[in-house]
Amino acid sequence: MRRSLVLIVDFGSQYTQLIARRVREQHVYCEIHPCTLDFEAFKAMEPEAIILSGGPASTLGAESPTIDPAIFELGVPILGICYGMQLTCGLLGGKVEAADEREFGPATITVDKPVGLLSGIEPAAATNVWMSHGDRVISLPDGFEVLAHSDNSPFAAVGHAGRKLYGVQFHPEVAHTDLGDEMLGAFLFDVCGLEPSWTPASFVDESVARIAKQVGDGAAICGLSGGVDSSVAAVLVAKAIGKKLTCIFVDNGVLRRDEAAQVVRMVRDHLDLNLVHVDASRRFLDALAGITDPETKRKTIGRLFIDVFEEEAKKLGKEQEPAFLVQGTLYPDVIESVSFKGPSAVIKTHHNVGGLPERMKLELVEPLRELFKDEVREVGAQMGMPRRVLWRQPFPGPGLAIRCLGEVTDEKLAILRNADAILQEEVRAAELYESLWQSFCVILPVRSVGVMGDDRTYEYVVAIRAVTSKDAMTADWARLPYDLLAKVSSRVINEVRGCNRVVYDISSKPPSTIEWE
Ligand code: XMP
Repeated sequence: MRRSLVLIVDFGSQYTQLIARRVREQHVYCEIHPCTLDFEAFKAMEPEAIILSGGPASTLGAESPTIDPAIFELGVPILGICYGMQLTCGLLGGKVEAADEREFGPATITVDKPVGLLSGIEPAAATNVWMSHGDRVISLPDGFEVLAHSDNSPFAAVGHAGRKLYGVQFHPEVAHTDLGDEMLGAFLFDVCGLEPSWTPASFVDESVARIAKQVGDGAAICGLSGGVDSSVAAVLVAKAIGKKLTCIFVDNGVLRRDEAAQVVRMVRDHLDLNLVHVDASRRFLDALAGITDPETKRKTIGRLFIDVFEEEAKKLGKEQEPAFLVQGTLYPDVIESVSFKGPSAVIKTHHNVGGLPERMKLELVEPLRELFKDEVREVGAQMGMPRRVLWRQPFPGPGLAIRCLGEVTDEKLAILRNADAILQEEVRAAELYESLWQSFCVILPVRSVGVMGDDRTYEYVVAIRAVTSKDAMTADWARLPYDLLAKVSSRVINEVRGCNRVVYDISSKPPSTIEWE
């Protein structure tokens, strides 16, 4: 059975990913593609429904992104949101004008005709929506009618029921639109006749079949970090090819306290994977000696990781000799690389295994490249994976090296590990671990004066970093309770030798980043 596809055409809105998430939450599969693809490419995808996203441009600009009007002749239901609505109306013979004032923020619409995506809403009912637009439609194309209006937008929602074409001036995907989910649901199910059949169970079944087909009798390897993405990817691939998958876990010397042992235990007890555990810690730490520049640290670790990984892969017997490399790439990475705005500037080198597939001539298997993080967790849960793995906070490939500012030394690493372990323990005890995107310690390359008993001390400073975030693109510093901070601070200063001061990082991203290096 072919899985139905909702095609989301991206015109560069900050909310495009949100549209995709909302559609997926209704258990309908969707993909985002840039508006710059040509019509034939869109047609070849055979979408069951199309959503035209919002965008920052004005449809009236000469260079503004547009779409081949042939899209409206496909007979596929289309929902245009904001820019997408203005484009739909403009291309089909309506009129759009630049409004004197941008309308941004909450607004109330009144439903005139409860059909299409507004079916189920009482006529004359008023409901809150989120507006964010400059231009507005001033006359409708033939056959279109007004479905809802607001004080500022006489055409807040419009549609041509016969052709199943709809447009909304507001953003149903944004949480501030009270009935946004109901509206998207009405579009997907009532207008398009889709089924809510995209579920973790169906994803697992489909993926296992797809991976089995791709890999055949071949063997695959996977760099397992113990994190959510690589663990779920590995378990999914193992479901398809069993012991033909070898997972390699590299201890790079900059893991947290007891982490290597925990990962090995977790795999042994819960995941039933073929695991090679390589302790390369001394090699990494020797290579890091004397390096203080963050990018050089990252590159040194990335390069060495590839060397170690390749050496281990070569040691595998003929049976296990890999032709495939499993990676836990997620959908936001995929979108980022094809995004309409183009890839954003590299602020920090994030590619831990960049160059590996080419160098080892391995074909990639990326079973999670269609999923958002929360969906990865659901898929993991569907396969019976433990909650502790699925809700583990992200941990960067370069590990503690980028949290040990300046040179990475055994002394600083020991202080950092012990302080970090205390923070983890207390955050978990306060039942805050899962609500935080990340919580960790950083050790600064400076010493400060303190007093312990009657003695003067001159020791390192540890910073606590705890953030909330949805996707790491932006983050806010977590308002951890003072009592918790007090407890962590006093425990770290009392229990960890070499640290006499603890500070709390109250910077959000942007302009700061989550990690310090
Ligand atoms: P920043 O510091 O850029 O980090 O705000 C955003 C998120 O990415 C993680 N991070 C990394 N993850 N390899 C990784 O696998 C890396 O090199 C890397 N650098 C940062 C970071 O922990 C945060 O969640």
